[in-house]
Amino acid sequence: MKKILFVTSEAHPLIKTGGLADVCGSLPKALVELSQDIRLIIPNYQALETTESVRFLFSLRVDNRNINILETTMPDSQVIVWLVDYPAYYNYPGNPYVDEQGKSWLNNAERFGLFCRIVVEVAMDRVHQDWKPDIVHCNDWQTGLVPAFLSLEHDRPLTIFTIHNMAYQGIFPASTATSLNLPGQLWHLGGLEFHDNLSFIKGGLVYADYITTVSPTYALEIQTPEYGYGLEGLLEYRKESLGGIINGIDLEQWDSTTDQAIAQTYSETTLANKKLNKIALQERFGLPVNDDVPLLGLIGRLVEQKGIDLIIECLPDMVTMGLQFVLLGSGDKGFEKQLKDLALLYPDTIAITIGYDEALAHLIEAGSDVFLMPSRFEPCGLNQMYSQRYGTIPIVRKTGGLADTVTDTLPETLANETASGIVFNEASPSALLEAIKRTLVLYSLTDTWEKMQLNAMRKDFSWHRSAQEYLALYEKL
Ligand code: ADP
Ligand code: GLC
Repeated sequence: MKKILFVTSEAHPLIKTGGLADVCGSLPKALVELSQDIRLIIPNYQALETTESVRFLFSLRVDNRNINILETTMPDSQVIVWLVDYPAYYNYPGNPYVDEQGKSWLNNAERFGLFCRIVVEVAMDRVHQDWKPDIVHCNDWQTGLVPAFLSLEHDRPLTIFTIHNMAYQGIFPASTATSLNLPGQLWHLGGLEFHDNLSFIKGGLVYADYITTVSPTYALEIQTPEYGYGLEGLLEYRKESLGGIINGIDLEQWDSTTDQAIAQTYSETTLANKKLNKIALQERFGLPVNDDVPLLGLIGRLVEQKGIDLIIECLPDMVTMGLQFVLLGSGDKGFEKQLKDLALLYPDTIAITIGYDEALAHLIEAGSDVFLMPSRFEPCGLNQMYSQRYGTIPIVRKTGGLADTVTDTLPETLANETASGIVFNEASPSALLEAIKRTLVLYSLTDTWEKMQLNAMRKDFSWHRSAQEYLALYEKL
């Protein structure tokens, strides 16, 4: 049994902005099921919600600040959670990283810098809890300074840094290095310095004993300039200590046979009931109710990563193709406005909900025939897996985890019963339109479509296998 300190800035159902939270909510659970001794540590944000009781555990002093650590458990699990309670930094309303206008909180470097320092105190058991981890598993830039600080300690736990997204690096002006009081040994080009700035993510990429990312394909992609954002050289240099482990999904939360958030549950044997969700979805979005019209859905952060610009360019053509399109998301204000304008122009075809809505996300997964995910890059992606599990055929671009989890529909993949979606290559509106046309042809072939749905629903996206891979890695280290 390993002792693992799992470090993250978000974890579902406590607090979530994206897939990072889904993963950090479910991977620790899966590790506990593999009998590991795991503690998750996370800032105690104002918006953090839990149904479990919370108790004071201990306090510590770091950088002349008094910090409390509170203890709770993850709802519906045995995972112990340590909440870092420092209201001056974490008791901000709403999103953990940005204000209501979508602008980063001005003191994010200080907020996550302090978080990392506290994690180190806990990891070295200088907090007298008689619990010293074997492994400290960090996730994304907010936790990047942990491996860096720990590299300076004697008799320290091993560190793993998981990259969920190279596009977010935690870059701050060089002066931050002084205000954070960073040890001088860490400040050089082979350390935390990046083009005269301080890079949090480099702390993970340079100093962690092992780096993982969330799909094998993305692990290779980030070693190239297109996906590495200037860090491809470093990642290539570290390639012997870099691997991809595909995310799993929470099979209990995403189960069409029990889902409380959808209009009608269904399974492989009652697939016909799926259409009741389609009707509910059309009603919910104020679209004409018609089971014959193919309904395409999308849920996600409205940012360039997700290929939203490609979709916006395609929509005027899509409305001529006899389909409907629903979207739930929020993000870039420009994208939000363009999408809302298109919905006003084509009210019988396009319906947009700007916002964040868990329950509606479930209904979209269940009620759509097709899920659109034309990402420019996608470290793993979860929605394409939720879709397949719900018998909703994903259209994806061949990148990152999308390439690793969706099998294109071709004569040979239909024959060997693996076809589970539509995969296209080029990040261009024309390639996306071609993929949609190809999908509509398949949709009209009812038997073929149903075979694709069943192939998709039968795929194994459970955490179990991935958690085993992480465990094997912990043991190898
Ligand atoms: P990313 O982490 O890059 O945003 P993922 O596909 O890994 O992408 O995970 C996104 C997660 O966030 C999914 O669980 C998805 O359902 C959820 N999500 C994103 N936007 C919304 C939204 N507007 N409402 C509800 N859920 C959302
Ligand atoms: C990131 C990525 C997404 C991935 C998620 C969880 O947010 O954008 O592709 O699924 O992290 O690892």
